[in-house]
Amino acid sequence: MKAVIPAAGLGTRFLPATKSTPKELLPVINKPVIQYVVEEALEPSGVDEVVIVNSREKPQIESYFKVDGGFEDTLRRRGKQQEADAVREAGSLPVSFVYQDDPRGLGHAVLCAKPVTQDEPFLVLLGDYFVPDRAMCVRMKEVSERYGGASVIAVAPVPADQVSRYGIIAGECVGSFDGSRLSSDEDEGAVWKVTGLVEKPAVEDAPSHLFIVGRYLLTPRIMELLQTQGVGAGGEIQLTDAMQRLLDEEDMYALVVDPDEGCDTGTPAAWAATNARLALRDPEVRPAFLEALGEQALKQLK
Ligand code: G1P
Repeated sequence: MKAVIPAAGLGTRFLPATKSTPKELLPVINKPVIQYVVEEALEPSGVDEVVIVNSREKPQIESYFKVDGGFEDTLRRRGKQQEADAVREAGSLPVSFVYQDDPRGLGHAVLCAKPVTQDEPFLVLLGDYFVPDRAMCVRMKEVSERYGGASVIAVAPVPADQVSRYGIIAGECVGSFDGSRLSSDEDEGAVWKVTGLVEKPAVEDAPSHLFIVGRYLLTPRIMELLQTQGVGAGGEIQLTDAMQRLLDEEDMYALVVDPDEGCDTGTPAAWAATNARLALRDPEVRPAFLEALGEQALKQLK
């Protein structure tokens, strides 16, 4: 199975940094954001390749994932084995590239990967968000297997004032992931049968307050539907709209997740918070980080 990561955006929220560095290569601690997403994508069994949908303006992403034997050798000669291993690791991940020449929306970006995904189900992982323990797509794959290979998306409750920023689902809860009793249909682990999807609805038109988190396991039929998908919200070809059409032909399920299971890097504030979260977990970084925060900030942390 292939996993697709759309990465052709302009990164305008991170200007001026993204004037010459693609936002996907901004580091969280010492690793580019997109490498966390690639490693997450490779976690479910059966995923053997990650396809990055890139723009021609950002050749640095492809360079990053290439082998750099010369640099690696230099590091080894200087006794920097750990660093050389890290350079080799980045160059040996099973990543390929397709190019989106015109930014026409998420649906169009996913369609660009069709020559690689071909006639198989595939994952889509949006690159502004990564799940450190890499377990979300694994659970989605399990749900899909339970329902005969159906498409499965991750969803989570969203406050009413943020509904219009996301794709929102309609449907009904049909059980829980691990068979446990749920106190509410929107609890983490709830599994929904999806009956509708709408991209960026006004809150009064939203069929629920469950938003699409950015992790999708889709059947190959979606690629054919994307080929004829017209523009939707924001004048873009929306993946959500093609998924709505897919519902006419196939069943689809949604797994309710805790969005805090993952780390958001989509805005400078979210990116800074994600760095803080991972800094606290990293034994090498944590002491200096805590010291720099100072006592005042530490009190606020408690
Ligand atoms: C995209 C999807 C939307 C989803 C969101 C998650 O929107 O179209 O359905 O809820 O990602 O981040 P975008 O953020 O590209 O506007």
